[in-house]
Amino acid sequence: MFDFTPDPDAPKADLYATLNEAADALTRDEPDGVANMANVAALMGEFISDTNWVGFYRMVDGGLVLGPFVGRPACIRIPVGVGVCGAAAKGETQLVKDVHAFPGHIACDARSQSELVVPIKRDGEVVAVIDLDSPSIGRFDDEDRAGIEALATLLSDRI
Ligand code: SME
Repeated sequence: MFDFTPDPDAPKADLYATLNEAADALTRDEPDGVANMANVAALMGEFISDTNWVGFYRMVDGGLVLGPFVGRPACIRIPVGVGVCGAAAKGETQLVKDVHAFPGHIACDARSQSELVVPIKRDGEVVAVIDLDSPSIGRFDDEDRAGIEALATLLSDRI
């Protein structure tokens, strides 16, 4: 169907540009949000190295509920304001170099050491978050943040 081959040696900016082009192509003509999140989770798993969990939580009735992901089974419901995902659900990206230093971090997967969580907003309201977990301390930086924030903008009305 689609054959996207990430270049492991590409600069991060190029990697995220290619990831986001692929995400755009896969979601552009598909109105089903679950299908789109599933394909984008698979893409993130292929493109973003040194991760143990990548995926989505959706805002449902005022709380986060697990969405499509790649990784081990995870916590299903997270209240807004609790943990890294719950903090991002209030509207600001969370770039956490060491999750053990984050108050209230929820250890769904004991391998996770660092985390990047980006809210997806529609009409100013958070409708989901993208969550990336890594087994390495300090795995994510501002380039990862910029790449995933661009992805969140792209997906705003496609999930
Ligand atoms: N560690 C997250 C919970 C979600 S899992 O990592 C998939 C948090 O503190 O929000």
